[in-house]
Amino acid sequence: MFLNSALLLLAGSAMADPREFSTIIPTGTFNPAAATAVQTEYPKDHHIAKGRLVDQIWHIVLDNADYDDAVNNPDLQYLASKGILLDNYYAVESNSQANYLAMIGGDTFGLTEERFVSIPSNVSTLVESLETNRVLWAQYTEDQPFTAFTGWEYPTSGNASYSRAKNPFVAFDSVMEKPSRYNNLRALASFEHDIEKHRFPQWKFIRPNLDHDGTNTNLETAASWVRNFIDPYIADRKHYHRKLFIITFARASSNTGPNKVWTCILGDMHEWERNTRDSNYYDHYSIPASTIANYDLPSLGRYDCSANVFHIINVKCHQKNLMNPEITDNYNQGPFAGYLSDDSLSLPVPNLNCEGRGHSGLLRRVKKIWKKASLSYADWQVGY
Ligand SMILES: *[C@@H]1O[C@H](CO)[C@@H](O)[C@H](O)[C@H]1NC(C)=O
Ligand SMILES: *[C@@H]1O[C@H](CO)[C@@H](O)[C@H](O)[C@H]1NC(C)=O
Repeated sequence: MFLNSALLLLAGSAMADPREFSTIIPTGTFNPAAATAVQTEYPKDHHIAKGRLVDQIWHIVLDNADYDDAVNNPDLQYLASKGILLDNYYAVESNSQANYLAMIGGDTFGLTEERFVSIPSNVSTLVESLETNRVLWAQYTEDQPFTAFTGWEYPTSGNASYSRAKNPFVAFDSVMEKPSRYNNLRALASFEHDIEKHRFPQWKFIRPNLDHDGTNTNLETAASWVRNFIDPYIADRKHYHRKLFIITFARASSNTGPNKVWTCILGDMHEWERNTRDSNYYDHYSIPASTIANYDLPSLGRYDCSANVFHIINVKCHQKNLMNPEITDNYNQGPFAGYLSDDSLSLPVPNLNCEGRGHSGLLRRVKKIWKKASLSYADWQVGY
């Protein structure tokens, strides 16, 4: 997050009340089998959108590790030797949940601690951008009790292996109000099946459970899980042709130093690009920015507008990356207060003048909803 985060920091010191949301955990009757059941229903659309660099992008998100530890882990070193290590990549807040919101919403919306929150339906996400160009998408989550479960965590006794804090899609009402969207929140158990049936969405957000992502365990467990998961797909061209796999961590584990996280890109790349580093500045806003750039999607008008596009994608679309963006003094640790942490602040208004990263301007729905609000000067406090 660059630009005006300092302003938000100031707003946060004003002793504001956090916005309140329901904390009801739907009880229902859980069927443990449903958590691991393979879903066999697919969207009717069979369209394949052409990407500028690749047609498929897989984002695999682990959690809670410092860059300096991760870069010395043998399993992650193995993966870095097969791809491009992004060695100047940062999370954008010190709590995990805010980082997940950032990846698909283009903002943390001022979430300064993990809580049950929901974002009103007039806020658009990357999902709507993808749908504009008919890029089929899905999230694959390990151990979610069932599709579109809205509870806080599961199981509710002992250590949870699923947490709403790490599922950004359920936090956005614009996703949860439409069955065609929330039905894409699939179980990781469906993953292999979807590959075999060739009913495979082009853009995938992959979330292991809280044991496998490192939250309840440690970096070693997360690193070994992700190596085993991705290894079959990076072995030969048949599997990685026109695919990019992006592995990242939601946040660093210590919240004093820079919020720097280990991130690596693998997949369809030249032989000479493997085992190299890309030291441009990136952060989690580079996820929507790079997705938008690859598929020429309309932008959200939030931090996706100014975030750097991954170099490997940018050589195909020539967006103006900022080489030395001004990052905040505490290296993206926050707390960056805003709408969710201060009930006196309104939702940040998107920048309707942003050109976006996909040569397609701004999402039409964003323009329509926010045009009037953008005329009020007070709401321009964010400055995307
Ligand atoms: C929960 O996880 C912690 C580590 O985060 C571990 O020490 C503890 O034994 C676990 N408890 C259960 C009931 O699994
Ligand atoms: C967006 O929705 C919220 C919650 O319903 C509302 O308070 C706000 O005024 C809306 N903003 C715009 C621009 O529609």
